[in-house]
Amino acid sequence: MYKAKILIDKVNIVGDIDPNIYGSFIEHTGKCVYDGVYNPEAKNADENGFNKDVIEAYKEMKLPIVRYPGGSYVATWDWRESIGPKSERKTMYNLPWHEIEPNTFGIGEAVKWARKVGCEIMMCLNISTMSLLDNLRLLEYCNFPKGTYYSDLRRSHGYEEPFNIKYWSMGNEPDGWWQINLETEDEYARISAETAKAFKFFDPELKIIACSGLGDKGYKWTKTTLKKGYKHYDFISMHRYMANKQNCFPLYMAKTSVLSGAIDRLTYLCDEIGQELGFDKRIMVSLDEWNVWYHSLEADSKIPYHCFAPHRLEDIYNMEDALSVGEMLMAMIKKCDRVKIGCMAQLVNVIAPLFTNKDGDVLKQSIYYPYRDACLYGRGVAINNIVESPAYDFEDKDNDDKYENVAYIDSVTSFYQNTLTIFIVNRSENEAAECEINVKGFEKLAYGKHKELYHDDIKAENSFENPDKVSPKEYEITPDEDAFKLNIKPHSWNMISLKLEESGNIL
Ligand code: AHR
Repeated sequence: MYKAKILIDKVNIVGDIDPNIYGSFIEHTGKCVYDGVYNPEAKNADENGFNKDVIEAYKEMKLPIVRYPGGSYVATWDWRESIGPKSERKTMYNLPWHEIEPNTFGIGEAVKWARKVGCEIMMCLNISTMSLLDNLRLLEYCNFPKGTYYSDLRRSHGYEEPFNIKYWSMGNEPDGWWQINLETEDEYARISAETAKAFKFFDPELKIIACSGLGDKGYKWTKTTLKKGYKHYDFISMHRYMANKQNCFPLYMAKTSVLSGAIDRLTYLCDEIGQELGFDKRIMVSLDEWNVWYHSLEADSKIPYHCFAPHRLEDIYNMEDALSVGEMLMAMIKKCDRVKIGCMAQLVNVIAPLFTNKDGDVLKQSIYYPYRDACLYGRGVAINNIVESPAYDFEDKDNDDKYENVAYIDSVTSFYQNTLTIFIVNRSENEAAECEINVKGFEKLAYGKHKELYHDDIKAENSFENPDKVSPKEYEITPDEDAFKLNIKPHSWNMISLKLEESGNIL
């Protein structure tokens, strides 16, 4: 057992946590939409054919926002094929994923689904094979009240009130080799800026998300994009997937730890360009695709072309993946002054925390638990903890990468409704930590709960046969006035909620 210390000090408040960082993502691929969100054959389908248990799970988590309808899917998505009476909708080819798309779930259904859950939609535009005019017609269809062709078309489809979609994303991963009609850096920068400009011309209150270049190599792409459209953008999108392809736990944990640095690099770049161009406005980060993704890669390479809703990207997550997800959530909380949207990719079945079977039953995967904990308790303001912990270095010889000083204890705190919630990951595979926790600058600690996600086997996963194999346990904590000690198990995710004696409105 090693020793660690965590200090939670009121002076280290980072800022407000935007609940939108706990969003999700619905893409037309695999069984995310068909058999996942929408399954009229399921025993738990509602009157719209939506899986009621999936809705309930996300309602319970207070899902704030959902990105739709892609992803890569948007590159050949023609929104006009996804509206109107279902009997008249056309079955199309989803080229990016090589799937058959019946369009029985489209824009109207997505909006209905979001309203049932109580969340907003972030609409991702096809700006690579659709024209700017096509996209303006989509905006008119969605947001114009009435009296124009497209707004009246929406009304004739049974939606009297406008959808009022506020968040619009300028395409998806435009510099990925897999993009249909791949644009150059300058082309993307121009089309994205002009689309954003026209959308703001329609309604200055809309929130626009531009795409950054992929990974750290996309730096130059991002720079060009920002220079061209800075004044129209509110967010810059970032995508990050973690993987343990080398099957090496310390490396996996170390790799996840670099997310905060990547967020910093992106925001420095935004600010540098903003300053160069003379803008006061700061662009925020929309981490609108993030998760662990690698388990399904081999199986996916064998999926034949041209099928409907195949078992694609169906990662089955284990205990160590839950830690990686927990670390990514903590990175967003720590950087909450700049990360204002986050969308876990994806909502159900496709690299998702929830999994459904043919009947519509819902399985909670290991990664669901840190996601739910953060969604429900990582609210209010964030506090950067001072952590004293042993650390390790790791050399990834395969990729010529070096990770230095990776602390075994990773932690952040949120303060919301008179409750301090401390999130902790123990990145040590085999050693527990005796953790001394001190709280400074708040009211006295009254009582607390410790929720722990742990399984001896880092590869343990949930299944329909054994759904609770990786699931949390809860313990009571009796703190002294402002301190207590806690044993943090090896490779565990922990959430400690501490009620304060009196209400302390700290802002
Ligand atoms: O989420 C799966 C895919 O990952 C998305 O379609 C794409 O944007 C990303 O590459």
